[in-house]
Amino acid sequence: MTPVPIRYGARPCSLVVCRGCCCGDARKNPGTDHAAQLARLREAAAASGGRLAVRTSDCLGPCAQANIIVVQPSTEGRRRGGRAAWIGFTLDDDCLDDILVWTKAGGPGIAEPPATLALQMIDPPKN
Ligand code: FES
Repeated sequence: MTPVPIRYGARPCSLVVCRGCCCGDARKNPGTDHAAQLARLREAAAASGGRLAVRTSDCLGPCAQANIIVVQPSTEGRRRGGRAAWIGFTLDDDCLDDILVWTKAGGPGIAEPPATLALQMIDPPKN
């Protein structure tokens, strides 16, 4: 897939990586190298030429589905109708592969998510 060019002043597609009480906790999910996951996502953002941003968050709510990553649309993706996608159980490299492929293609509103990633989408918590 061809990356979508980014316009000056436009907000990039961004990943909100939950690192609250459960997400990123080795006691809850001992089979995952949580620090390496976050480092990988940050490296991808650094290499993206401004197309991807990554930040961490305190608990986002759905701890039972930890680790949670929210994929937020870029300005252009939102303009085209894209909305934040909540991904649960982001515990393995395949899931991160899918997230990075999707965001490289433009993310919500611009590209369809990989089918395997779509299976991991969850409803956002109701406020
Ligand atoms: S710690 Fe991530 S949803 Fe609660």
